[in-house]
Amino acid sequence: MDVIRFRFDGRGIEAEQGQSIGAALIAAGYRSWRSTRRTGQPRGVFCGIGVCFDCLVTVNGSPNQRACLTEARHDDQVATQEGAGRDHLAG
Ligand code: FES
Repeated sequence: MDVIRFRFDGRGIEAEQGQSIGAALIAAGYRSWRSTRRTGQPRGVFCGIGVCFDCLVTVNGSPNQRACLTEARHDDQVATQEGAGRDHLAG
């Protein structure tokens, strides 16, 4: 199985080729990578099938990517998402 590497909040993460970002983060020991808009509660994978949107991350500058469905790719820059993750749209 081929191994790829990506960055999560600046830290190196290894994943198997074809593995989702969410699966790779869980395998690396992470359980949450987003906070809710109003109360800032931590969220990670809940449904694991693309329905709940709890697992949103920012990937290569694009917010609102579902980590459970998004395939990890070599050299991706993945970041924790705060709130709605739409700061780049302001202004
Ligand atoms: S965990 Fe529910 S959409 Fe990703």
